Amino acid sequence: TIADHLRKYESLLTLTPQRMRMIVHAFEDTLDIGLQKDGQIVPMIPTFVFGWPSGKEVGEYLALDLGGTNLRVCLVTLQGQGKFQVTQTKYRLTEEQKQDEGQKLLDFCAECLDSFIRDTLGRTEEDGLLPLGFTFSYPCSQDKIDHGVLIRWTKGFGAPNIEGRDVAAMFMDSLKRFNVPAELTALINDTTGTLIASNYVDPHTKIAVIFGTGCNAAYMENAGHIPKIDSIGLPKDQGMAINCEWGAFDSFDHQHLPRTKYDIIIDESSNKPGEQSFEKMIAGLYLGEIFRLIICELIDAGDLFLGQNTYKLEKAYAFDTAFLSLMESDITDELLTVIGVFTHFFGVETTLEERQFFKKLAVLIGTRSARLSACGIAAIVSKKGYLDEGCAVGADGSLYNKYPNFANRVHAALVDIFGEKGKNIVTHHAEDGSGVGSAIIAAMTKARKDEGY
Ligand code: BG6
Ligand code: GLC
Repeated sequence: TIADHLRKYESLLTLTPQRMRMIVHAFEDTLDIGLQKDGQIVPMIPTFVFGWPSGKEVGEYLALDLGGTNLRVCLVTLQGQGKFQVTQTKYRLTEEQKQDEGQKLLDFCAECLDSFIRDTLGRTEEDGLLPLGFTFSYPCSQDKIDHGVLIRWTKGFGAPNIEGRDVAAMFMDSLKRFNVPAELTALINDTTGTLIASNYVDPHTKIAVIFGTGCNAAYMENAGHIPKIDSIGLPKDQGMAINCEWGAFDSFDHQHLPRTKYDIIIDESSNKPGEQSFEKMIAGLYLGEIFRLIICELIDAGDLFLGQNTYKLEKAYAFDTAFLSLMESDITDELLTVIGVFTHFFGVETTLEERQFFKKLAVLIGTRSARLSACGIAAIVSKKGYLDEGCAVGADGSLYNKYPNFANRVHAALVDIFGEKGKNIVTHHAEDGSGVGSAIIAAMTKARKDEGY
C-alpha cells in the first residue's frame, strides 16, 4: 500500500541527529586535508581574495556571471557604506551551449558583454576600459586572482577543451578578438562573491553557501591554516577566502553519505559518474530527478497510475525541482496544485491519497537536502570555532530563495547537530554575490595593485 511505501522512503531518506554528527566529523577532516595538500577531492581552493572588504570600496565595475542556468551581465556602482546600484541583463544558456566547444562558450559570454556595454550602457572604447569581475562558478584552481584552471565541469556542463586550461586567459582572448571595452580584473566563484558581498553589508557574515543548481560554500581562512600555500610566505594571520567546492565531498569512495539507489542511478547516468556526490544529493539540478526515479519505481511495480500513459514521467530530468517546491507550497485540502502539476505537465490523473503521498515524498527529499547541507555548514562552524560567538551565513540560489521551509530545515538541523547553541548560526538571503560581490572583489584587487601589493 501507499502507507507502506511511505514508511520505506521515510527510513531511506531520513537523517538522524547522530548520523548527521558522524557526517560533520568526516566533513571536517575532509576540509582539513584539502587545506593541507593540493589536488584533494574537496579542493579547498585559495581564491586570492585577501581578507574582508573595508566597506569603503566605491566605483563602477562590470560583472559577468556564468552560473548554471543563466548568463548575467551587470554594471555595479559601489557607493560605499554597504550601498550599491545594479543594472543588469540576463541571457538564457541553451543545453547545446553547455556542451559546445569551450572557447565558443566564452566567445558567447564576450559577445553578450560587448552588446551590454555598447547597447545598454552606450559606452565605447573611447570611454576607457571598465574593470570586470568574472564569476565563473565551477571549480578553478588559482594562483592569482585573474587566473583559474578549470579542474572539472560540474552541474551537467561538458564543453570540451576547457577542463585543465586557464579560463581567464581563454576569456581574455575572447575579449580581445571581439574588441570588448573591458578589462578582466578578477575571476571568482559565486560562493566567494556571495561571501564578500554579504560581509560588505553585514560584517557578522563569515560563511557563504549557494543552494542552487549546484551547492557549494566559501569562508575566510587564515593563511597560517593553509599549509599548501606556505611557500607564498603570507603573514600567518592574513585572511584568504577559500572556495571549498564541497559539492565534491564523498566523491568516488562514497564512504560517508547515506546514498540510496536513486542517488546511485543519478550518479551513474550523469556525465560525471563518481563525482560531486554531496551536490548530487542536495542541489536543485537533482532533487526533482530523485522524486521522478521513485515515482517510476512505483509505476513499474504497478502501484501508481495504473492503466494511464506515463511516458512523460519516464523521461530523465522531466520532473523539475520547481515542481517539488510547488507541491510543498500546496496547502489546499484537495492538493489542487499537485493535481495541476500531474495533469498539465504529465497528463496523468491522481487520487487524493496519491497526491498526499507525493507531497510527503517531496518533504522527505527537500528535508534530506537541507539536513545534509547543514552538515557542511556545521563542519565549517566547528572548524572555525564560530559556535559560541555565533555567525551569519549568507545564502543564495533558487533552492534557498524559492523552496518552502528550506532555511527553517537547515536551522532545525543545526540545532539537532549542536543543541541549543545551533541557534547561534543563522542563514539569511545574501546580497547578489556574482554581481555586487565580484565588483567589490574587483575594487579590492585594484586597491591592492595600486598599493603595489
Ligand atoms: C544567484 C547568485 O542568486 O544564485 C549567483 O547571485 C549564484 O551568484 C546563483 O550563482 C545560483 O543559483 P542558481 O539557482 O541559478 O544555480
Ligand atoms: C557547483 C560548482 C561550484 C559552484 C556551485 C554553486 O558546485 O562546482 O563552483 O559554486 O555549483 O553554483
